[in-house]
Amino acid sequence: MQAFLSSSIPATSYSRSSFLPQPPQAPAKLAILPLSGPRAAAVARRTEAGRPAGRCVAASASSSPAATTAATAEVPAAMKAWAYDAYGDASVLKLDEAAAVPAVGEGQVLVKVAAAALNPVDAKRRAGKFQATDSPLPTVPGYDVAGVVVKVGGGVKGLKEGDEVYGMISEKPLEGPKQSGSLAEYTAVEEKLLALKPKGLDFAQAAGLPLAILTANEGLERTGLAAGKSVLVLGGAGGVGSLAIQLAKQVYGASKVGATASTKKIELLKSLGADVAIDYTKENFEELPDKYDVVFDAVGQGDKAVKVVKEGGSVVVLTGAVTPPGFRFVVSSNGSTLEKLNPYLESGKVKPLIDPTGPFPFSQVVEAFSYLETGRATGKVVIFPVP
Ligand SMILES: NC(=O)c1ccc[n+]([C@@H]2O[C@H](COP(=O)([O-])OP(=O)(O)OC[C@H]3O[C@@H](n4cnc5c(N)ncnc54)[C@H](OP(=O)(O)O)[C@@H]3O)[C@@H](O)[C@H]2O)c1
Repeated sequence: MQAFLSSSIPATSYSRSSFLPQPPQAPAKLAILPLSGPRAAAVARRTEAGRPAGRCVAASASSSPAATTAATAEVPAAMKAWAYDAYGDASVLKLDEAAAVPAVGEGQVLVKVAAAALNPVDAKRRAGKFQATDSPLPTVPGYDVAGVVVKVGGGVKGLKEGDEVYGMISEKPLEGPKQSGSLAEYTAVEEKLLALKPKGLDFAQAAGLPLAILTANEGLERTGLAAGKSVLVLGGAGGVGSLAIQLAKQVYGASKVGATASTKKIELLKSLGADVAIDYTKENFEELPDKYDVVFDAVGQGDKAVKVVKEGGSVVVLTGAVTPPGFRFVVSSNGSTLEKLNPYLESGKVKPLIDPTGPFPFSQVVEAFSYLETGRATGKVVIFPVP
């Protein structure tokens, strides 16, 4: 985390893009909740089994992202949640109108979810790719959350009811991730995995950040990227890549950032801070003369990535086959890293990028998954509002 210690990080001015976040405003779409089926209710009852249905006084997030005042409300025993009890495509997702509100364990807080976001890992997990290390079905998916703390478990010291927080709810996304995720009205999260929501960002913007920004940061950190070095980001317009470009420039002080995307996203890459924007539909980046100290591959092009790294450089590969000297890692959740990144988010040096097709209301989680799985999302696919 050495890069955070640098105080000489230059500010970059952004050209305004329609992709970049607009001032907080209530989305035009309204949440229309479909009826749940009997199977979904049964899922809730199974999850609920053996747990007392307690009630407590708590705060609830406003449905307006601009609002920051929490109103008191009771935490119910049941909630709306998206869940699946079999692996498969997006059609396995069912809206459960009476899922159990998760119990709050030691060191955890209960978060009233205001907004959530999807990541490719949610789709891969739902498809059963991580069955060997997954939590048992049924699953309420969702790693990314932004919301309001409404209940505090034993041993929690830093957070209190009413705090507006964001984070990635499972410390290891592939190793026993939580059964009850963020695509629900409430989710229980370890205090250490959460950070206070950056001032000036609304819930939808904050929800799109945790998994992607933690991945971008951990990947760049593991490469040893330092001020004055060059980096090429493959997949610069995606959830992770859009943040990797910005962190490389604003947090790590890279002197030159290259990035790849298709034609209509080239201007976006430049607005994010890329010095070299490569249209992969017109040029093969591995055939260009430029070489980089670091290559950050968010596409799965590890074999080509190693062709453009300088001698002694570093190649981090998020997905797909790894070719030496490339390496892969799996992101870990960590609230203190988010806290360290908050100043960059609060100053606007690093900006969340929400896909302009969204945010998708809670009723359209299936559509949001289908959209994410096209592989064409620009920035983050966000779910907002969450009732
Ligand atoms: N190892 C880890 O810990 C970790 C953590 C997070 C994510 N990941 C993985 O990393 C990958 C990226 O995640 P993400 O959240 O950024 O996905 P994403 O947001 O869904 O990525 C979509 C973007 O990828 C771009 N893209 C697709 N093919 C491309 C190509 N050939 N060249 C350049 N850009 C291309 C698309 O741009 P165009 O429309 O212009 O093609 C689109 O903007 C996923 O496979 C994910 O599972 C791994």
